[in-house]
Amino acid sequence: MTANRPPPFDTKQVSLLWAGPERAAEIAGMHARMFEEAWDHIAVIKMLEHPASTGFVCQIGIPKITVGFIMGQVMADEAEILSIGVAPELQRRGLGALLVGGFTRAAKRAEAKRVFLDVAADNAAGLALYTKLGFTEQSRRKAYYPRKGAEPVDAIVMSVPV
Ligand SMILES: CC(C)(COP(=O)(O)OP(=O)(O)OC[C@H]1O[C@@H](n2cnc3c(N)ncnc32)[C@H](O)[C@@H]1OP(=O)(O)O)[C@@H](O)C(=O)NCCC(=O)NCCS
Repeated sequence: MTANRPPPFDTKQVSLLWAGPERAAEIAGMHARMFEEAWDHIAVIKMLEHPASTGFVCQIGIPKITVGFIMGQVMADEAEILSIGVAPELQRRGLGALLVGGFTRAAKRAEAKRVFLDVAADNAAGLALYTKLGFTEQSRRKAYYPRKGAEPVDAIVMSVPV
């Protein structure tokens, strides 16, 4: 940890709540802050209404405010993380790891054997987070993510056993 970085949140300070469609507006709001290709409210509702949807938000403070989300699906023995984000001002304090941990626990309880995701090859934070949590590269999708005014970037498919 660097000297001027705030410490990680104590898990007692953070609530991890199941995310259904009623969370779509706040998740879409956060998504728009974090991604060039943001998912709108309707797209997020559809994702959270899917029967296989498994998602969480994390909240801190009194009154509690939502500062992160994870959305994915668990189907048969595989689970997939489709999107994750933490408010920029609260990154590097353990919330991303907590969200992935919540998702992998839910996947395991649903008897999934592996969690998959894909991450853009230029997303250093995402790659570092998943690698730290034991995900390893399985394959690549060439030129998968468009980039405004630049060459598209590969998607790296990663997975971890649960
Ligand atoms: C990726 C993301 C969710 C990580 O969330 P986070 O709350 O900052 O992650 P954590 O604090 O739990 O980090 C856990 C570990 O991941 C690694 N890590 C996370 N962000 C990192 C960064 N910017 N640079 C290097 N390592 C990083 C570190 O090993 C870190 O542990 P450490 O802080 O003890 O060194 C966050 O950066 C984010 O929301 N980014 C924008 C959206 C995005 O890119 N989502 C992923 C799409 S695949």
